[in-house]
Amino acid sequence: MDPNEFRRLGHELVDWVADYRERIADYPVMSRVEPGEIEALLPAAPPRQAEGLADIAADLERIVLPGITHWNHPGWFAYFPSNTDLSSVLADLVAAGLGPQCMSWQTSPAATEVENVVIDWLRQMLGLSVAFSGVIQDSASTATFCALLCARERTTGFGQNRGGLQAEQAPLVVYASDQAHSSIPKAALLAGFGAEHLRLIETDEAHALRLDLLDAAIRADLAAGRRPCAVVAAIGSTATTAVDPLAGIAGLAAEHGLWLHVDAAMAGVAMICPEYRPLWEGVEAADSLVLNPHKWLGTGFDLSAYFVHDPEHLVRVMSTDPSYLRTAQDGRVRNLRDWGIPLGRRFRALKLWFLIREYGVAGLQERIRRDMDNAQWLAAQVGAEPGWELLAPVQLQTVCLRHVPPALAGDEEALADHNRAVAERINLGGRAYLTSAELKGRQIVRVSIGAQATERADVAALWDDLRAAAT
Ligand SMILES: Cc1ncc(COP(=O)(O)O)c(C=O)c1O
Repeated sequence: MDPNEFRRLGHELVDWVADYRERIADYPVMSRVEPGEIEALLPAAPPRQAEGLADIAADLERIVLPGITHWNHPGWFAYFPSNTDLSSVLADLVAAGLGPQCMSWQTSPAATEVENVVIDWLRQMLGLSVAFSGVIQDSASTATFCALLCARERTTGFGQNRGGLQAEQAPLVVYASDQAHSSIPKAALLAGFGAEHLRLIETDEAHALRLDLLDAAIRADLAAGRRPCAVVAAIGSTATTAVDPLAGIAGLAAEHGLWLHVDAAMAGVAMICPEYRPLWEGVEAADSLVLNPHKWLGTGFDLSAYFVHDPEHLVRVMSTDPSYLRTAQDGRVRNLRDWGIPLGRRFRALKLWFLIREYGVAGLQERIRRDMDNAQWLAAQVGAEPGWELLAPVQLQTVCLRHVPPALAGDEEALADHNRAVAERINLGGRAYLTSAELKGRQIVRVSIGAQATERADVAALWDDLRAAAT
């Protein structure tokens, strides 16, 4: 495509995206297509001759749009917010247009240096001390995997340079809560710890990890000759945004020499508001910490912020040093390929740079506070309405609720069917989309507030819809 054609089509597609965002509330939030419906609209074989892109906007509208579930819709209450502010759309356009591979400082110095600066802006926004160094990863899953690899190598004194885990005398153990996100067990398994050496510790009524049980599990492992290696604390668990007792976990980690990784993927960005920082008291003791600006903050997927206390250790675990990657500046610069798993890196930092400059810290704080207030408002409505229950404390922006009609009270199976049906009715209705989940044997309707477009009126409309759906 030549630059002139790009300019013409680019303007058309920017208009198309802008129009889409203007009319996003008109679409049913959850896509209504059936499996295979989109595939059936596409030719099974690639075009033999060049087609050109003249008809692409029409095809996007006809083929792609019906198969989109609209994460930026004001009625988005499912999973977690995944806001793509339009500034991110532009930043990604610029990043793609420049097209750099940002693996080393030399392969695009601006990419490394913008990243160094904006990740440090984020550190300051979160109130973290200068003892933390940050780097952008693609996802929290990758960051947690890096964390457990680093933990493994610290405990084994760089066993990867010898026989690896296979040569260890005592098995290494990882701890997290039974509410930990699936990326934690996945990382532990991929890092070679083995399912038998992953302890998912029971949680309390607030769904936070029980310190007494963590303490007991560590002691039992030590007594049995195993080596406690790492503990992952959730600040904002996936199901209920439960907050693990970080300061207490940090104390146990220090006592037994465990790597402490904090998974604040969903909730961490709330800490740009100083009033929420007590929720992660103890965070300064973390060896590593991940949070996702690509969820609630507004940088489009993918952009995870990974902070560590000992970047040299991270680099030692991650770096490879083939001659073809060496550059004259090595030793004077950060080569970010050594701060994570993939060699190749996109210029993701642009998205964060654009977003922070677009809103300022104050603008971003205002939106987090709006969403927190909306969650408190909904929790208050649920708490005051006979026949409705909250199933977890609302500390952040997620509200876990269920409807308990008197006729079904006490019958968990019937309640599960009823609440599943309530969620289904909402999702098929098209005005809102939320998640139906199981929490310790009880079916919940999970309302995750925080789409950029969601205002109080949208939350109020959802509450009306929920009560209508329940009757
Ligand atoms: C608490 C928590 N940790 C980790 C993740 C995984 O995030 P990612 O998709 O960035 O890997 C999620 C995603 O929902 C999450 O809620």
